[in-house]
Amino acid sequence: MKTILDLARAKREQQPIVMLTAYDALMARIVAASEADLILVGDSVAMVVHGFPSTVHATPEMMAAHVAAVRRGTPDMVVVADMPFLSVRRGTAYAAEVAGQLMQAGATAVKVEGVTGHEEVISHLVGSGIPVMAHLGLTPQSVHQFGGYRFQGRSAADAERLRDEARQVEELGAFALVLECVPSALASQITEERAIPTIGIGAGAGTSGQVLVISDLLGLDAQFQPRFARRYLEGHQLIGEAINRFTRDVRGARFPAREEVLA
Ligand code: KIV
Repeated sequence: MKTILDLARAKREQQPIVMLTAYDALMARIVAASEADLILVGDSVAMVVHGFPSTVHATPEMMAAHVAAVRRGTPDMVVVADMPFLSVRRGTAYAAEVAGQLMQAGATAVKVEGVTGHEEVISHLVGSGIPVMAHLGLTPQSVHQFGGYRFQGRSAADAERLRDEARQVEELGAFALVLECVPSALASQITEERAIPTIGIGAGAGTSGQVLVISDLLGLDAQFQPRFARRYLEGHQLIGEAINRFTRDVRGARFPAREEVLA
C-alpha cells in the first residue's frame, strides 16, 4: 500500500489488511520486500527493543529515532508511528509538536490510543494534515489503569462504550482503527458499523485486517508468547543455534576459512 487511501479501498474490496511492527531499517527493508501492507513503529519498541516493562517508557525522541530508521529502510511504505505516553494529554500544541516530530522523521501517519479527553487533539491533528489511526480496547499505555493487560469490552456497558468510542474516532477523522484484545463479536460489530477499516490484534477474525508485533510473529522472545499471536518462526532458537555454530567454528579453528580471509 502506497497511501492511507489504500486502506479504505482494501476495506471496500474486502481485502484483508496486514500491518506489522518494525523498529529499525533492516527489519523495515524485510517487511517492505514482503507482501505485508504497512508498518507500525509501535511504542512496543520500548519493550521489544529497549527492554522496558511497558510502553509507558517510550518517549518522543525514542519514537522519532526508530521512525527515522524505519523510513531509511523503506522509502515508500505507509509507516504509522505511535504517539507516545501522555503526548496527547499535554494539550493540543504539545501533541502537534510531537506529531510533527514523528512526521518529519518519516511517518506517514500517527496512532493515538483512546479518545476520551483528547478528542480535540485528534481533530486538530487531522485538521493539520496529519493522518490519525485510532487505537481502542486494550490500550497498553493505560496498563496501570486497567490493572494489567486485560481483555476489554466484555460487559454490555463496556462494549457499548467501545462502540461509541469507535463512532467518535471515525467522526473525528481517524482513517483506521486498531482494536486490541476485545471480544471477536464486538470487533466484528464495530467493523460492520464503521466505514473506516479496523485492524485487530487479539480481536478475532472479523476485523478488516490484522496487526502483529514482529518479534511475536518471528518467535524472537523465548519467554513471551501472547495467546492471540501465532509464531511463524522459532526465531530465538534458530538465532541461538546460528550463534552456537559460529562459536564452535571459532573454537574449532574452522572460522575464518581461507576464502574468508582478506589477502
Ligand atoms: O505498539 C504496538 O506495537 C501496538 C500494536 C500492538 C498494535 O500498538
